[in-house]
Amino acid sequence: MNKALRKAVIAGNWKMNKNRQEAKALIAEMLPLVKDADCGVVICVPYTNLETALEATKGSNVKVGAENCHWATSGAFTGEISADMLAEMGVEYVVLGHSERRQYFGETDGTVNKRLHAALTAGLKPILCVGELLNEREGGITEEVVGMQTKLALAGVTKEQLANIIIAYEPVWAIGTGKTATAEQANEVNHYIRTVVEKLYDKETADAMTIQYGGSMNAGNAEELTAQPDVDGGLIGGASLKAADFAKIIEAASK
Ligand code: 13P
Repeated sequence: MNKALRKAVIAGNWKMNKNRQEAKALIAEMLPLVKDADCGVVICVPYTNLETALEATKGSNVKVGAENCHWATSGAFTGEISADMLAEMGVEYVVLGHSERRQYFGETDGTVNKRLHAALTAGLKPILCVGELLNEREGGITEEVVGMQTKLALAGVTKEQLANIIIAYEPVWAIGTGKTATAEQANEVNHYIRTVVEKLYDKETADAMTIQYGGSMNAGNAEELTAQPDVDGGLIGGASLKAADFAKIIEAASK
């Protein structure tokens, strides 16, 4: 990453893992290992672990995020959680538009945009996920897909609001598969996303934006990935569930 222009952020996405006891134990093991991080550290946890995570990370350098939020502030939306509810708890970040939400729960670019606006209004910092499917990469339309997702998600977002958004490039074919994009592939798409942001806003804004890579990032490949000029940290799934591995990734991104 380009440290002169922006800050790396390593965010764990726990997905649907860990009960409260397990969450408490994982955070307790993790905190001393990451306390000297020279990058932002976030853990995005299931709703049921938010209270536990907020309590356990109090006074530390680790911030807490949720994995989704609804676009309405309240109302008849059984099973949903609003951005305001999260903000009121003290939650700081929220993952939006994750490919698993798009794939399994009918999330669209339109609903991602609505959730993004709700999150920003509530004062949350969205981690906006974009990424192509394998057949889209093979069909040579990675830039079209990622560009479209980025533009539609950011529709109506002001330059000032953008300062609170992180984009995570997560090629769907690399998520949970052990297949990582090469450092060059990750950097190429991250750089492309930055040019899209530059066209929508301006160069200064695009240069300051944190753009992560996600998809099988682990203790072994984090250093090479985060050394790329346009890869500003990562969004980590599986490896964020092991304190030592997560700490190694944070160490790599701190270099
Ligand atoms: P893995 O690191 O398990 O591939 O998951 C990546 C991811 O989806 C993070 O949001």
